[in-house]
Amino acid sequence: MRTQVGIIGAGPSGLLLSHLLHLAGIDSIVLETRSRDYVESRVRAGLLEQGSVETLTEAGVADRLHREGLVHHGIELRFDGVGHRIPLTDLTGKVVTIYGQQEVVKDLIAARIAAGARRDHAPILFDVEDVAVHDVTGSPRITFRHEGREQVVECDVIGGCDGFHGICRPAIPDLAIYERVYPFAWLGILSHSRPVSEELIYARHADGFALATMRSNTVSRLYLQCAPDEDLSLWPDARIWEELHRRLGCGDELEEGKIFQKGVTPMRSFVCETMRHGRLFLAGDAAHIVPPTGAKGMNLAIADIRVLARGLERFYARGETDLLDRYAEICLRRIWKGQRFSWWMTSMLHRFDGDDPFEHRVQVAELDYVSTSRAAMTTLAENYVGLPFEV
Ligand code: FAD
Ligand code: DHB
Repeated sequence: MRTQVGIIGAGPSGLLLSHLLHLAGIDSIVLETRSRDYVESRVRAGLLEQGSVETLTEAGVADRLHREGLVHHGIELRFDGVGHRIPLTDLTGKVVTIYGQQEVVKDLIAARIAAGARRDHAPILFDVEDVAVHDVTGSPRITFRHEGREQVVECDVIGGCDGFHGICRPAIPDLAIYERVYPFAWLGILSHSRPVSEELIYARHADGFALATMRSNTVSRLYLQCAPDEDLSLWPDARIWEELHRRLGCGDELEEGKIFQKGVTPMRSFVCETMRHGRLFLAGDAAHIVPPTGAKGMNLAIADIRVLARGLERFYARGETDLLDRYAEICLRRIWKGQRFSWWMTSMLHRFDGDDPFEHRVQVAELDYVSTSRAAMTTLAENYVGLPFEV
């Protein structure tokens, strides 16, 4: 099989890359180890920066996003039992939108399949096995097994969009890696219940952080700081609600509903600065991970893909490689700002075991400052809604 760009991974990165290339008349194939059903139901991120929504809108895959997404103009920071609103739109002129990652994935898969029906190969192959990349500094090839048959894709360029545990990053020698692992995780639930408030609540509490967000007007998404190796069997529903009530401090406003999904998300900051090796380009979680506080993960992935897609467009249209040559440099400027913001939000809002009373008071002073100074609020707000794109 021959294509122009071979893409590994059907998460937001790989699917958006394939779609943007299609719009530019560039052929690609996406290879994914999981089933379509699995990737369309995997619960992850839920908050889109304004620039991410604009990217999906310009790409023509945002009709449902505009119908079903919830547009937000502010967030609340809660500490010492009191809420403080950060008016995002008043401070920045921008909004954020709540729309589940799996919905973005469904919309992109539908668009790829609709467009791909005219090609001589399927746009996406699900349930592939034993994916490996070869000769990425020469004539790239991807080998894999599909429906019991060994197959090869020959291509000009490989998009390594296979997430943190994929095979593309390990295929690159001498990686430049920067990493921090946090001593806690998030226990996340989805519940059939009305959101506790119209806007998101980020709560700092002596017993640990809590976040109240949502997926719709009838589905709440709630998170609790927990141990990195937390045993979910020790968290029956009643304990989760009790802890959410205590940490959020919203009284009867927090409606308890049927919990239909539970999971633990570990927290790490990770950057692989080697985002390109020959004709292999890493994008999204394959190259970087942020702790979820502030919801930058999927948004950074979308920003990488904008640069990569534009670079490939120029390469195929005019033979120019200038943008591709600057791919890592351009992406890393945004990635490090996203890392800084996610690390800062995480540090400000979580309980760190072993913190002494001095550190505790500095943390509360920082929250107090961010909630009362217009300059400090603006710093939070402009990062939260998304910094401007370079490309
Ligand atoms: P992924 O979504 O990980 O997609 C990679 C794809 O590659 C997957 O479909 C995978 O199955 C596939 N793949 C892996 N290996 C191979 C292989 N060898 N061959 C072929 N395919 C392969 N971000 C937020 O902003 N807010 C959140 O609340 C949040 N919660 C999260 C919870 C969890 C449990 C996780 C893991 C992440 C969370 N994130 C969150 C981060 C966000 O979901 C990611 O940043 C986003 O998914 C990145 O998209 P991606 O396409 O780069 O990677
Ligand atoms: C969501 C997750 C986040 O980490 C965050 O900061 C905001 C929203 C969410 O899942 O909706």
